[in-house]
Amino acid sequence: MIELTDVRKVFPARRGAAEVTAVDGISLSVAAGEFAGVVGPSGSGKSTLARMVNLLERPTSGRVVVDDQVLTDLDDDGVRTARRSVGMIFQHFNLLDSRTAAGNVEHPLELAGMGRSERRRRVADLLDLVGLGDRHGSRPGQLSGGQKQRVAIARALAARPKVLLCDEATSALDPASTAGVLELLRQVRAELGLTVLLITHEMAVVRAVCDSAVLLDHGRVVDGGPLAEVLTRPHSPLAAQLLPAPAVAGATGDLVRVTVTEAAPEGRVLRTLAGELGLDVEIVGGSVETVAGRRFGRLLLSVSGDDGRLDGALQRLRDGGSLVERAVPGDEPLPIDVHDQPEGSEGDPVHAPYEPRFLDAPDVQR
Ligand SMILES: Nc1ncnc2c1ncn2[C@@H]1O[C@H](COP(=O)(O)OP(=O)(O)OP(=O)(O)O)[C@@H](O)[C@H]1O
Ligand SMILES: [Mg+2]
Repeated sequence: MIELTDVRKVFPARRGAAEVTAVDGISLSVAAGEFAGVVGPSGSGKSTLARMVNLLERPTSGRVVVDDQVLTDLDDDGVRTARRSVGMIFQHFNLLDSRTAAGNVEHPLELAGMGRSERRRRVADLLDLVGLGDRHGSRPGQLSGGQKQRVAIARALAARPKVLLCDEATSALDPASTAGVLELLRQVRAELGLTVLLITHEMAVVRAVCDSAVLLDHGRVVDGGPLAEVLTRPHSPLAAQLLPAPAVAGATGDLVRVTVTEAAPEGRVLRTLAGELGLDVEIVGGSVETVAGRRFGRLLLSVSGDDGRLDGALQRLRDGGSLVERAVPGDEPLPIDVHDQPEGSEGDPVHAPYEPRFLDAPDVQR
């Protein structure tokens, strides 16, 4: 449904500001009906990438295809028409304050030249769809953040798009409103068969709704794929952000990180190590979450026992289908308290938690 091929965006130098390569050769393919996430630190090119999907930003080079239409081959008029099949929502809603909820949803239908009575019917349906059937006449100032985003979603869906772009759509919302908006996005995806490209810095959002995700850094894709695949890939930087497993302060012993899945759950891992093999096992970090509707976890274990036994035990886990990574010997984990972060950085992937280094990691010299 969305096909980007080697897309680049260079913002030319202007008034003392140097040239910026915001997107540096990204190829990305999102299937019809897929919920795809885009994550990465601030300034990594996420918004620029999203804006190139509907050509709000014309790529400097590369090809953008949406629903089999090569947008980069169209002239400006063609782009304006094609853009109707791509809805977009933003962090700050971008509603017209002078218009009611209904008036905001109606706006794109007016621009598209739809007749008045048809417009009214469509607006009523859309507000019902987003659960605001009783708030037609409310102005944005009278609505909560979550309700404003619902209006924005209704407006984005007005022209019956096939693709919905969401740029930090839940970043200004509290957790309860975020959950409500995500549930709504999931529902409209299912009911309308939408393809969704969702940009966020909140890993919880990716875990809750995405089927796949890409991690950007300096305008490039550095990791990505279907989440189930990413989470079982050794040394995946995206997996480290999706399921952080930092060591608690004072952890000692041999550190082993085990990725648990429904097929190889943590109970079995612990039983194998502690029960069957008699090793001393402590959990020194980890998280277990529902990701893309399935249970995944990463446990950081401190395991004591002689090396020969430990190696055999880890091999046994691997044979049982677990991803097992061993920390570098002597590479002491730093004491860390994940709650003790600079203000405003909670859950921010830019401040990925400290993790010990693991053998076989690309940056470890053997
Ligand atoms: N119109 C523009 N002119 C010049 N530079 C721009 C423009 N838009 C974005 N940039 C630059 O391109 C880079 C990528 O910006 P972008 O907004 O895509 O990042 P982002 O990943 O969305 O960041 P954030 O998480 O802070 O929203 C940044 O260095 C930014 O300063
Ligand atoms: Mg952005």
